[in-house]
Amino acid sequence: MRVSHYVKHKLKSLKHYGLENPLREIRYILKEKLNLSYEEQIFNKDLVISVHEILELEKIFEERKKKKPLSKILNKSYFRDIILSVNEHTFSPRIDTEVLIDILIEQKINCKNILELGTGTGALSISLLKHYKTAKSIVTDISKEAIYIAKKNAIFNNTVHQMQFICCDWLSCFENLNFDIIISNPPYVKRSEIKFLDDEVKNYDPLISLDGGNDGLVSYRKILDSIKKIGKKNLIVLFEIGFDQAKQVTNIMKEHNFKKIQIFNDYCNLPRCILGKV
Ligand SMILES: C[S@@+](CC[C@H](N)C(=O)[O-])C[C@H]1O[C@@H](n2cnc3c(N)ncnc32)[C@H](O)[C@@H]1O
Repeated sequence: MRVSHYVKHKLKSLKHYGLENPLREIRYILKEKLNLSYEEQIFNKDLVISVHEILELEKIFEERKKKKPLSKILNKSYFRDIILSVNEHTFSPRIDTEVLIDILIEQKINCKNILELGTGTGALSISLLKHYKTAKSIVTDISKEAIYIAKKNAIFNNTVHQMQFICCDWLSCFENLNFDIIISNPPYVKRSEIKFLDDEVKNYDPLISLDGGNDGLVSYRKILDSIKKIGKKNLIVLFEIGFDQAKQVTNIMKEHNFKKIQIFNDYCNLPRCILGKV
């Protein structure tokens, strides 16, 4: 079958499944699964795909109709300029989170010694270490499956020599905090709101990566309580936050003696990150 016919046919059959941009998805799947560049798909009118290939594609579209995210179907995700493996145990990295890297680079923040809490696929640290070639990062997660994937991604992206991997509950296994900066995108959805999230999120991202407790702020409090208890001067903390949590997280940071607190917006101009110094 010609690719152009296949795309038309697929567009029709996906019409009723509520996908935001089915054409973009079809083209992306053709690129990822059959290695057909967008240019080839659009300009090579004679391009054909085999019956076997169509059957392979059908399996993907069947899963997509059940709202399984493409990252979880293809076990692959893009984050800034890196490619990451993802699976059912890992949170799929979001474009909103990329802004955290921009902030560190644009603000020229010292990132030689990084601690990342709740690393998931390793997206944040791997991206940062690709930029800061002499920096080091200790990455943690409570999920050992996530740590396994983060290490695999670090090997693939050639940053593993700059990283250490620890499976632990926030800061519970740290006795001192000899880092320039702690970064984290912790779970921050209110427990009672998880059921209202899109199926793609609530059915496919691990609950532990979403659940921020009764008010969505439990992880921030736990992390900041531990920093206060361990005691550290000259430490910068940069968190991702929910777009409506800036005020509350600012207050929690102030209660924990943080100064020079700044809020940064994401690419949709919504408050997305908070930075403070202690
Ligand atoms: C929202 S995801 C962020 C993942 C990744 N940093 C990113 O931005 O794509 C939150 C991560 O925190 C981890 N996590 C949840 N509770 C934790 C805890 N108590 N200690 C350490 N990590 C935790 C989850 O397993 C998950 O990987």
